[in-house]
Amino acid sequence: MWFKPWKQNKVDPLDQVVRDRLPRHIAIIMDGNGRWAQKRALPRSMGHRAGVEALRKVVKACSKLGIEVLTVYAFSTENWKRPKDEVGVLMTLLTEYLRKELQELHQNNVLIRTMGRIADLPREAQHELEHSMESTRNNTGLILNLALNYGGRSEIIDAVRKLSKDVLMGKLRIEEIDEEGFSKALFTSGLPDPDLLIRTSGEMRLSNFLLWQLAYTEIVVVDELWPDFGQKALLEAIKVYQKRDRRFGGIHTN
Ligand code: IPE
Ligand code: IPE
Ligand code: MG
Repeated sequence: MWFKPWKQNKVDPLDQVVRDRLPRHIAIIMDGNGRWAQKRALPRSMGHRAGVEALRKVVKACSKLGIEVLTVYAFSTENWKRPKDEVGVLMTLLTEYLRKELQELHQNNVLIRTMGRIADLPREAQHELEHSMESTRNNTGLILNLALNYGGRSEIIDAVRKLSKDVLMGKLRIEEIDEEGFSKALFTSGLPDPDLLIRTSGEMRLSNFLLWQLAYTEIVVVDELWPDFGQKALLEAIKVYQKRDRRFGGIHTN
């Protein structure tokens, strides 16, 4: 036979994304694990477990897309108010995630970093985080920034304290305090501000996330609950972002 049977080539959806306007930094408020479980009459812990799966998928997709930074809100300073059991589950899942995924993350050139008051986390979680950061510190691909025991207000207070100390010690003059220097005193020092913030589960609030850094970030709120979020939903959110007109307070002159 002179012809070959028609073979349908499957196109990877990641290849269909417009590459020239990708966000450099994506931040995500991973919300809705509890509601996902409730809908299925499951304990909240199952929702958190399913949430880890969504995180795995999103990290992979961001890494393949060539996104520079992915910051995920995993535990807020206010989440300590939850029942002790639930806090325990969240901490265990974090440790488990790092243990199970470290090798693959490392193979994919992902660098792990954290933001938040890490010293107040359980010792085991801290140990796993240190190990993960140490093993991936020379990687040059996606930066996976885990916000843990993170609060935007406490981050700002910590920065103010740090700069005040420098002033008292004569290392810094008050007139020298500027936006650039202040940004360097935050956990996100050295990272670009997020271009895109995604919040799942439809809630229209920041819940104390990246209060300084989100000044000019494009916000996309989606109705999907976090465990239902994956590569497809991520690409949709990126498409919405790509249609936005970012003016940064200016106007178009052409
Ligand atoms: C997000 O899901 C996970 C964390 C806050 C750690 P939630 O647990 O907040 O889920 P909902 O909002 O109760 O559905
Ligand atoms: C924000 O979600 C914190 C994280 C996703 C880690 P919450 O569920 O804690 O936020 P609220 O309570 O609805 O504002
Ligand atoms: Mg919630």
